[in-house]
Amino acid sequence: MEQPKKISRRSFIKGVAILTVAGAVTGTGVWATSTPAYPSADTNINQEKNMDKKILVAYASKCGSTAEVAKTIGQLLSESGVEVEVRAAHEVRKMEDYDAVVMGTAIRMGRPLGEMTNFAKKFNKDLAKLPTALFSVGLSMKEDTAENRAETAKFIAPLVEQLPSKKSTAMFGGKVDYKTLSPLLSFMLSKDTSGEMAEGDYRDWNTINAWANSLPAELGLG
Ligand SMILES: Cc1cc2nc3c(=O)[nH]c(=O)nc-3n(C[C@H](O)[C@H](O)[C@H](O)COP(=O)(O)O)c2cc1C
Repeated sequence: MEQPKKISRRSFIKGVAILTVAGAVTGTGVWATSTPAYPSADTNINQEKNMDKKILVAYASKCGSTAEVAKTIGQLLSESGVEVEVRAAHEVRKMEDYDAVVMGTAIRMGRPLGEMTNFAKKFNKDLAKLPTALFSVGLSMKEDTAENRAETAKFIAPLVEQLPSKKSTAMFGGKVDYKTLSPLLSFMLSKDTSGEMAEGDYRDWNTINAWANSLPAELGLG
């Protein structure tokens, strides 16, 4: 029997992009292309405690896995005795009062999400003056290898270039859960025979926690 042809992740992702746009344009409908909402990660921690320093953790997430990472990082940061605000990047209206900013974005189609790119552009001048840290969440870091790091570094390079005072960068593995995708994407990904886009959670919480715990020193919050 003829085996199904294997396709690379890159060509598969390209195919998904074309079909998603085609779906939207040809009227497959809003239902088919809309992503289900995920629980908000937005929170204020230690707000009532009058801490000396206040940190913003801004995230861009389509399906919620990056939002969960941002919330965990915010929680761990707060344990070092600072006030923390965790917010979806597109919800941040002004850049006042913060002593440092941690930014986290999912990667899709080889790029950081537009919400994070827009955030970096909008607050460009403020971010240049503040200590910043950046993390990405994506399937290209399913395994932490030199090759995967190099590939992911290329994906986030346009964002990194906009952060002259960045003190730390981390690239984490991501998560795919078809239930959190639009019906069209979920259908498409279920047809991926390469296994590259199979469901799975590749976030390594030990690595995430270790990075979060390194941030107070990296960002000079001590
Ligand atoms: C359509 C689609 C395209 C994706 N493209 C990439 C990619 O190019 N590189 C990558 O590392 N991960 C890619 N991913 C994986 C996601 O970035 C990963 O699952 C991440 O955890 C999703 O974050 P979120 O749940 O916050 O949206 C893609 C996922 C989907 C559904």
